[in-house]
Amino acid sequence: MRLLSLLSVASIARSLWAQGSDTGSGPAGYDTSRIGPSNAICTRETYYLDITSDNYKFENVMLNANETYLTKLLQEFVTSFPYQSNFTDMYAYGTETVANTYALSGTLCLPKDGPVNITNIQLLIHGIGFDSSYWDFAPDGGDSYSYVYAAAAAGLATFRYDTLGTGLSAHPADAYNVVQKPTDVAIAIRFAEMLRAGQIGARAYTKIVAVGHSYGSIQAQAVTALAPTALDGVVLTAYSGNATALPLWWASTAYSTASLIMPTRFSPEELTNPYLVTLAPWTSQLNYLYFPYYADSIAAYARATEQPVTQGVLFTIANNITAAPAFAGDVLVITGAQDWIFCYGNCYAVPPGSGYTNIPAGVAALYPAAREFDTYIPQNSGHNLFLQYSAPETFQQIIQFASGVFASW
Ligand SMILES: *[C@@H]1O[C@H](CO)[C@@H](O)[C@H](O)[C@H]1NC(C)=O
Ligand SMILES: *[C@@H]1O[C@H](CO)[C@@H](O)[C@H](O)[C@H]1NC(C)=O
Ligand SMILES: *[C@@H]1O[C@H](CO)[C@@H](O)[C@H](O)[C@H]1NC(C)=O
Ligand SMILES: *[C@@H]1O[C@H](CO)[C@@H](O)[C@H](O)[C@H]1NC(C)=O
Ligand SMILES: *[C@@H]1O[C@H](CO)[C@@H](O)[C@H](O)[C@H]1NC(C)=O
Repeated sequence: MRLLSLLSVASIARSLWAQGSDTGSGPAGYDTSRIGPSNAICTRETYYLDITSDNYKFENVMLNANETYLTKLLQEFVTSFPYQSNFTDMYAYGTETVANTYALSGTLCLPKDGPVNITNIQLLIHGIGFDSSYWDFAPDGGDSYSYVYAAAAAGLATFRYDTLGTGLSAHPADAYNVVQKPTDVAIAIRFAEMLRAGQIGARAYTKIVAVGHSYGSIQAQAVTALAPTALDGVVLTAYSGNATALPLWWASTAYSTASLIMPTRFSPEELTNPYLVTLAPWTSQLNYLYFPYYADSIAAYARATEQPVTQGVLFTIANNITAAPAFAGDVLVITGAQDWIFCYGNCYAVPPGSGYTNIPAGVAALYPAAREFDTYIPQNSGHNLFLQYSAPETFQQIIQFASGVFASW
């Protein structure tokens, strides 16, 4: 038994990805041939970030655990939610400071037809199951599902990155104590600071709007709480404060060892066993898509390029979500009407007398000092908004919001 606590943190920057992939063009199904859409000037770079974070410390977990053991852990975790004391007693003892250098792949895209001295930018933080190509999703090489394209067409700049453990970024072996929420949040804060300080693309941005998707929204929300001046506006997509369906999500995705489920794309040499992917296209559909309002080819491409998530992220994602009383920027929440994870399939199922017209509107409680707070609910849309037919409509909502933030003050 290889106990996690015995692991050195030196394994971090192993460059870990499959040799050969389904697309044939990059590691682990990552289409490296595309750096961005034709209407933007894009630069992809590896950033080495020195990050110190206050992490949850898991005990009695194993990086070589088999499916039986991973499933047992999941059972214990889910049945103890939301109190978690039983789970915490067994596996997590408080917190520890974790300091590492992480190699993270980021892509800056400036609009070809935008202002020469562009001073505003969007920081794009993807969610679970994806890497940063979620924002430049181009299944057939076309641009109609690419938010980066839509933003560039509106004259807006974007910076997106592969979160730790996905895409071209490092895949640290320690899938519990290193690759977990506090690390991801610290990285998001650092990227926002770097954009502000002129450390990305040698240009200092005066206004920054973060756009998150799902777990990316959880991170963006945490940025507004922990570093309230890092951002001027935030768009939280596929998000709400309602945890009703989270246990169903944790269980029904049937997340399983990535190298077992997708052996042609992920190997045990590159990923430890608690790096997981959804068991089947249907367990993914159940949680992430609303049929029939998406193209089968889009779902197939998302599956072919699915990225892993660690059990460490899954077990810390809902921890310590706090209000952002000092955040004075603008907030927009966009969640699909049929979002399973954050609305349990019906975003209008607000309790009587709540005073809110939809579940995502409840996020307002986290933002007492926001300059503006708004919600938008695309119809016929599940959790993975950019894969649904409503994507272009969602793009325009985000663009309008970001343009408004950039034009103000
Ligand atoms: C899985 O691992 C557990 C814990 O190490 C062990 O008890 C169990 O026998 C293993 N099961 C299989 C099917 O290998
Ligand atoms: C969980 O903890 C409570 C008290 O903290 C205890 O009464 C209960 O039996 C525990 N449940 C399990 C399944 O261990
Ligand atoms: C705008 O950019 C050009 C070319 O990069 C530079 O020469 C000029 O000084 C910039 N102007 C301002 C106002 O920043
Ligand atoms: C929890 O959140 C608070 C405030 O938002 C923060 O100060 C603290 O460091 C967080 N704890 C962990 C373990 O992330
Ligand atoms: C949370 O979501 C559930 C399931 O959709 C719903 O029944 C409940 O009313 C929601 N609660 C709030 C406070 O929005």
